[in-house]
Amino acid sequence: MICTLLSLLSWISPEMAANRERSFIMIKPDGVQRGLVGDIIKRFEQKGFKLVAIKFMNAGEELLKKHYSDLSSRPFFPSLIQYMQMGPVVPMVWEGLNVVKTGRVLLGETNPADSKPGTIRGDFCIQTGRNIIHGSDSVDSANKEIALWFDPKELTEWKANQQSWVYED
Ligand code: RTP
Ligand code: MG
Repeated sequence: MICTLLSLLSWISPEMAANRERSFIMIKPDGVQRGLVGDIIKRFEQKGFKLVAIKFMNAGEELLKKHYSDLSSRPFFPSLIQYMQMGPVVPMVWEGLNVVKTGRVLLGETNPADSKPGTIRGDFCIQTGRNIIHGSDSVDSANKEIALWFDPKELTEWKANQQSWVYED
């Protein structure tokens, strides 16, 4: 068992490990209510990222307070927690090279008014307090957020057949 694990680890090249970076992306209640779930998923799919986990749920106050704990002292924190409970959300895990950084580029800026056309927030929303989507801001927070929202067994292992058409190695 250990030998199999070691040989598997030695077989994974640094490039392959980099291609397996993961980000936590979540469609917020306004994104769901406005019928943008398909459009948002499409942006990540057509970029070449791989979907690893997805669910549809009402998020509770306790979970949301943990998720946004870094912002707990900010004046907008209570309204943010309220907004995130206005309806169901779509938590997801996406995988790929630099997915955390590139995911934030696909999202646009926190304030949709500063977001360029072609980004999700630039194309689909107007106000910071209704900015339709969340994306992890670092690999470290991505790992914490994935562990907070998903059980390890909900992360699906699969080989995307387009892999060698998206990556050179
Ligand atoms: P997110 O975590 O949701 O991906 O957003 P972000 O990194 O772009 O921005 P962050 O600073 O982490 O703020 C989290 C969310 O809080 C709401 N917000 N409201 N009224 C305000 O000034 C204000 N600032 C932030 C937004 O919904 C923002 O996405
Ligand atoms: Mg944030």
